[in-house]
Amino acid sequence: MKNTVLTLRKQKESQDKITMLTCYDYSMAKLMDEAGINILLIGDSLGQVMLGLEDTLSVTMEDMIHHTAAVARGAKNAFILADMPFMSYQASIYDAVTNAGRLMKEGRANGVKLEGGATVCEQIRAIVDASIPVCAHLGLTPQSVNAFGGFKVQGKTAEAAQKLIDDARRVEEAGASMLVLECVPAPIAEKITQTVSIPTIGIGAGAGCDGQVLVYQDMLGMFSDYVPKFVKHFAEVGETMKQAFADYTAEVKAGTFPTQAQTYGIADDVLDKLY
Ligand code: KIV
Repeated sequence: MKNTVLTLRKQKESQDKITMLTCYDYSMAKLMDEAGINILLIGDSLGQVMLGLEDTLSVTMEDMIHHTAAVARGAKNAFILADMPFMSYQASIYDAVTNAGRLMKEGRANGVKLEGGATVCEQIRAIVDASIPVCAHLGLTPQSVNAFGGFKVQGKTAEAAQKLIDDARRVEEAGASMLVLECVPAPIAEKITQTVSIPTIGIGAGAGCDGQVLVYQDMLGMFSDYVPKFVKHFAEVGETMKQAFADYTAEVKAGTFPTQAQTYGIADDVLDKLY
C-alpha cells in the first residue's frame, strides 16, 4: 500500500512507529521499498555522503532533482520526501513555491522538507497552498551550521527548548504534515511529539518520537568520516564491500575470474571463417 500523508498520520494515531531512511538512488530505493520502509528521504546530506562535500550548503536544486527522480523510479510504496536545498526557499515565497514545485514535477516527490520554524512559516503556508505536503525540520538544522557554530545538540536550555516547542506548534499551524527533530534532548522531543498532532520523526532525538530516520550509509556502516552518537550500525556493509573489492582484485589478478560461467562463446564454424 502506498504511504501517504494520511497513512502516516494514522500511524501516529495508532502508535505504529514510522520508518524513514535517506535514499539517493534507484537500486537502493528498490531495496528499501521492498523492505517496507515508510518514507525515503532524499536528504541534502547527499552533499556529504554521495558528493564528498564538507556540509550541505553547496547542494543544488539540480542535484536534488536528479537524485529524487532516481529514487522515485525505484519505489512503489514508500513516500518520497525531497529536501529543499540551502537558499532554495529562504530568500522568497516565490523561490519556495517554485522550487518545491520542481521537486514534485521533475523529481516526482510526494512532499518536500525544509529547515526552520517560525521564520519559514510563510514559505510552508504558500507551499501547502500549492497542494504540496511539507515536512518541517527543527533542532540541529544542518543548513544553519555556520550560525550554530558547528553541529551541536539543540534545545538544551529552558529558553531554547521552549523555542523548539513553540516552533513545532507554529509549523503545524502553518500546515506542515510532518516534523523531523534532529539532535534534540529526548524529553523535549517527546514533549513536542505529545504537543503536535502531526508525526514527529527523530534522528538523535530519542525513542519518544513517532518515527525514526537515519542516513543509510551511517546505519549500514559505510561512512566513517564522522560517526555521531545517535548512529547505530545495523550491518557492517562497508567492511563486506571492501572485502568483496579485495577478492575481486585478487581473482582478476590470479586469472580465476571470469570463468566459463561468466563468458560468452561462439560457434566453431563461425570462428573458422575468420582470418
Ligand atoms: O539531509 C538529511 O539526510 C536529513 C536527515 C538527517 C534528517 O535531513
